[in-house]
Amino acid sequence: MIYTSAIFATMLAPRAVSAMRLGASAPPTMERPHTLPNAENFEDSYPEAMGLHNWKVDPNVRMECTHKHLKNPTVSSGLKIGDIVRGGQFQYRVKNFIKKGNMNAIYRVEQFRYDWQKGGALKEYALKTSLTAGSCGETEHEFRFLRHMHTKDSEMFPEVVETFTMTEGGKPVHCLVMELLVGYSTLRKFAAKKLDPTLGYDILKQICEGISTIHEDKVTTTKKITRGRKAGTTRTRTTLMFHHGDLHWDNVMINKENKIKIIDPLAPRKYQKTKISDPLIELYELGKHAILMLYGSELIGKVTFKQIQKEYPELWRMFDECYTKGKGARLLNNDRSAHSQLSLVGFAFFRVVPNIEAIKAYVDAHPKMFERAE
Ligand SMILES: Nc1ncnc2c1ncn2[C@@H]1O[C@H](COP(=O)(O)OP(=O)(O)OP(=O)(O)O)[C@@H](O)[C@H]1O
Ligand SMILES: [Mg+2]
Repeated sequence: MIYTSAIFATMLAPRAVSAMRLGASAPPTMERPHTLPNAENFEDSYPEAMGLHNWKVDPNVRMECTHKHLKNPTVSSGLKIGDIVRGGQFQYRVKNFIKKGNMNAIYRVEQFRYDWQKGGALKEYALKTSLTAGSCGETEHEFRFLRHMHTKDSEMFPEVVETFTMTEGGKPVHCLVMELLVGYSTLRKFAAKKLDPTLGYDILKQICEGISTIHEDKVTTTKKITRGRKAGTTRTRTTLMFHHGDLHWDNVMINKENKIKIIDPLAPRKYQKTKISDPLIELYELGKHAILMLYGSELIGKVTFKQIQKEYPELWRMFDECYTKGKGARLLNNDRSAHSQLSLVGFAFFRVVPNIEAIKAYVDAHPKMFERAE
């Protein structure tokens, strides 16, 4: 497609156009016009966060939002195909709408760069926009999480480009630009039917690897106690730097080569008004994914631990050893599905804090755990 320079000029921010005029030979590198404020202070009311990159979206072109989970579907990022979105570093043109999740809409966009006129192909990305008036902090958290994890494991976590905020009808729409996942499906769709045991085992190993990467980095904080008996002393705590918090099967993507990508982390509790976010939840999700891959989505709500113990004893032992420290017999004495029992509440009785390293070591040591006993 050919664009005239006049159109080109209107598409680029004025600073970008002037930068282009300056250096014709070497394409100028554009610096990020701002440094990200500290996430701790990054709330909706934070003035710097709101005024950064306002892009007015015409409310008349707003996509109809019919998602049943949305109580207040007033902010919908009504982008239409061909719209140009001005981000912080780059501009993007909306190519098509991909999907609407619970809280966000995903679009395929192409990025305009200085080398655009030289005939180079425009790189495509995914633009994720908030459907409800979620906080800037949530989008910033997702950006920081994915940037950190992508640096540690570029295969398993998508690359992120930038975040910015547009406004629609005076309301903020927070945006995240990330790697476009082409040829990927969600784990839920992928495992709708029973999978070959070797493939299921390979995917479980990848999920262990992913969680292990997420849980690897720790932060130590020291706080001075000001009241009570211990006033004047300090308390030191070591916690995980990140946890995913929402590792359900729609947030694990998988491609034709059976390689997974982990997306869509949940922001820490301080940004969440309704959901609980705890690092242990992803370990229970891991258990659910193992059952999903063995039994498929039709049976997932029915399979009991008793049945798993009989048919896949090595998988059962993973739950018994790693999640209950050998006290798992209690899980066998009822007819509730393993899937419904695999939750913080379901395992609270055991007073065991499972950890990914023990689970990963168990999975690595049992390559036949997905093979049926009889
Ligand atoms: N980078 C991407 N490239 C292509 N498709 C994507 C990308 N990120 C997400 N998707 C698609 O959009 C869907 C929703 O994305 P995401 O999980 O990030 O949003 P969400 O609204 O938070 O979802 P939910 O709240 O339902 O978990 C994904 O299940 C996936 O199918
Ligand atoms: Mg999601």
